[in-house]
Amino acid sequence: MQDLKGRVAFITGGASGIGLGIARACAEAGMKLMLADVDADALAAAQARLAATGYAAAVQILDVRDEAAWDAAAARAETLFGGVHLLCNNAGITGSGRPVEELEPAEWRRIIDTNLTGSFLGLRSLLPRMRRAGQGGHVVNTASMGALLPYAGGASYVASKAGMLALSEALRLELRGSAIGVSVLLPAQVRTRLFETSSQQLAPQDADAMSRRAAARHRLEYEGMEPLEVGRQVLDAIRENRFYVFTHPQLGAAVEQRFGAMIEAMR
Ligand SMILES: NC(=O)c1ccc[n+]([C@@H]2O[C@H](COP(=O)([O-])OP(=O)(O)OC[C@H]3O[C@@H](n4cnc5c(N)ncnc54)[C@H](O)[C@@H]3O)[C@@H](O)[C@H]2O)c1
Repeated sequence: MQDLKGRVAFITGGASGIGLGIARACAEAGMKLMLADVDADALAAAQARLAATGYAAAVQILDVRDEAAWDAAAARAETLFGGVHLLCNNAGITGSGRPVEELEPAEWRRIIDTNLTGSFLGLRSLLPRMRRAGQGGHVVNTASMGALLPYAGGASYVASKAGMLALSEALRLELRGSAIGVSVLLPAQVRTRLFETSSQQLAPQDADAMSRRAAARHRLEYEGMEPLEVGRQVLDAIRENRFYVFTHPQLGAAVEQRFGAMIEAMR
């Protein structure tokens, strides 16, 4: 999708952080916005912040884990805008940092349901509509560098994000030759409220356990990249129909090491 002006972007997790950064970049490109999020207050605040800079956005309360709610949101997007051209499956949460043997099944399920199944449900709801409209489009799935560089205490999160990468790769093959492009976003630290919003969604004991991740939280909140910069990188990738979007290419050496070990084991 090269000419983005007037096209419609539907962004989950759009009330905050990377989703809002993508929304701003879309607005700069002249796109129409529909921000979907589970947090109604954050949605209203995001809408007001965008309005203060001269950009309008429709908002939609949506829990990405809810299949029926996805269909209602897709129908509303059609009513308001006539359809969606860009779907950003971006809503996500991180976890307590507990090792696998101490991880509560409820936390595991919540993370997989939100980060991975929620994106599948979004594709299942919106992709047929995008195809039927016949106007082309693009899908952006937010994974994470955790998909390629797993860390101890992150099993549920990195599993969800590795799943997101694999889902995106399969989707790219399925959409090859169609007018709908696919990109997968693999950010490292970006300055967002991820730890705060995630702890609100976990059971209190799991949210408490998150205090063990103080150093990671500090790095993200104080050293992270600006979400708008990520949003602009995403828009460039859409225009150029690039599949992989890496925010921190300096991590390439660690990825090379990981894949090098795999190739070595195959010799
Ligand atoms: N911040 C980083 O450093 C970083 C790095 C790698 C990947 N990511 C990924 O980026 C995405 C966006 O996160 P962020 O860092 O901007 O955090 P954020 O907390 O600022 O934004 C996430 C948004 O998703 C919403 N959300 C959570 N659960 C939802 C649900 N069930 N349905 C709908 N909306 C829901 C939250 O309310 C929030 O507004 C996530 O998928 C995250 O895993 C972030």
